[in-house]
Amino acid sequence: MERIAIMRQLRVELGQRSYNIHIQAGILNEVGLMSRDFTSVCKVMLVSNPTVYNLYGQQTMEALHTAGFEPVLALMPDGEEYKNLDEAARVLDTAVESHLERSSLIFALGGGVVGDLAGFAAAIFQRGIDFVQIPTTLLAQVDSSVGGKVAVNHALGKNLLGAFHQPRAVFIDPQSLNTLEERDFKSGLGEAVKYGIVYDADFFAFLEENAAKIIKKEEECIEELIYHSCRIKSLIVAADEKENGLRMILNLGHTFGHAVETLGGYGFYRHGEAVVMGTMAASYLALEMGLLTEAELHRITALYHALGLKTVFPSLPSAEVYQAMLGDKKVKAEKIRLVLPRGIGSFYIADDVNKEQVIRAIQTAQTLK
Ligand SMILES: NC(=O)c1ccc[n+]([C@@H]2O[C@H](COP(=O)([O-])OP(=O)(O)OC[C@H]3O[C@@H](n4cnc5c(N)ncnc54)[C@H](O)[C@@H]3O)[C@@H](O)[C@H]2O)c1
Ligand SMILES: [Zn+2]
Repeated sequence: MERIAIMRQLRVELGQRSYNIHIQAGILNEVGLMSRDFTSVCKVMLVSNPTVYNLYGQQTMEALHTAGFEPVLALMPDGEEYKNLDEAARVLDTAVESHLERSSLIFALGGGVVGDLAGFAAAIFQRGIDFVQIPTTLLAQVDSSVGGKVAVNHALGKNLLGAFHQPRAVFIDPQSLNTLEERDFKSGLGEAVKYGIVYDADFFAFLEENAAKIIKKEEECIEELIYHSCRIKSLIVAADEKENGLRMILNLGHTFGHAVETLGGYGFYRHGEAVVMGTMAASYLALEMGLLTEAELHRITALYHALGLKTVFPSLPSAEVYQAMLGDKKVKAEKIRLVLPRGIGSFYIADDVNKEQVIRAIQTAQTLK
């Protein structure tokens, strides 16, 4: 029996910068017409990479043409290692050469890499033009397409060059996940679990109860997972758009994780994989500090395993990991600020952890599975 595609809609409440997130199987065919709700411009740019464009480019281009858009195409190479200033400059060259205007739109079709880079280009082209996110990986659908953080990497650190620039709309087509590689699907799950750990115990329980269905990619379950992830992220972003407080909690596992990504070489570990490893280190630290019980730590590990995620921290020298963590832009005056789980569904921001504690947590995460 064919399932009727349900349209789910969320709104990110940010005053004049508010926008909708639309989640619906098949919505890729509607992105043009639906964008007519907020623009009458003709000239637009579609940013993607060859992998995604070969799969969904034609369909998206048709959807744009149908609605009277005249899209120019800018393709960046596929990979985290290309999320840099050089590639952003190339995309911007296309924008300039094809005479994009202040009122033009950029459509980002792809995973978090394309979304972050295209959004960054939109943020600086003529001091900022509108852009639309069409995320095609699970990670981008549950996290990176929402919230307006756009950035490119620097050789010395992840996302060091960036801006806050909210999209005008987010169109999520869960069907696009059918072509995603298993490893990328899992990486997205790794990122989604954080919402449960630091903010929403019910969501954590939902993931526990449905882990088997989730790894089988049962459609309804995946749509629910995407919906709740976007719902939670929208609430957090609406409360703290520029990350002066609450939004920080979404960095759970990220300071450790970014060090892993930087030391591993961009692209070696998937972002979500690094976040899982980093969250384990943060969880051991939380255990040591009495913020987490053994039983709660076990629930976190068990959930990751049920979702098919590897929890063991890579065997990089812990002193180097620590050093790379100091290079992370979230570090304030040589002190590492870390988001830690406090039980399941809550958080603690630690400003006062010392080097020994961090190194011990890394080493524990390297030895325990
Ligand atoms: N801006 C934010 O708030 C935020 C949040 C989390 C992560 N991120 C960033 O997101 C990036 C990671 O994103 P990602 O995991 O989506 O990686 P990605 O964009 O590299 O995509 C992973 C791979 O999947 C391919 N792909 C994309 N869609 C596909 C599809 N439907 N079918 C088949 N293949 C497809 C891509 O070409 C790529 O090879 C990192 O750079 C990370 O820093 C940003
Ligand atoms: Zn992340």
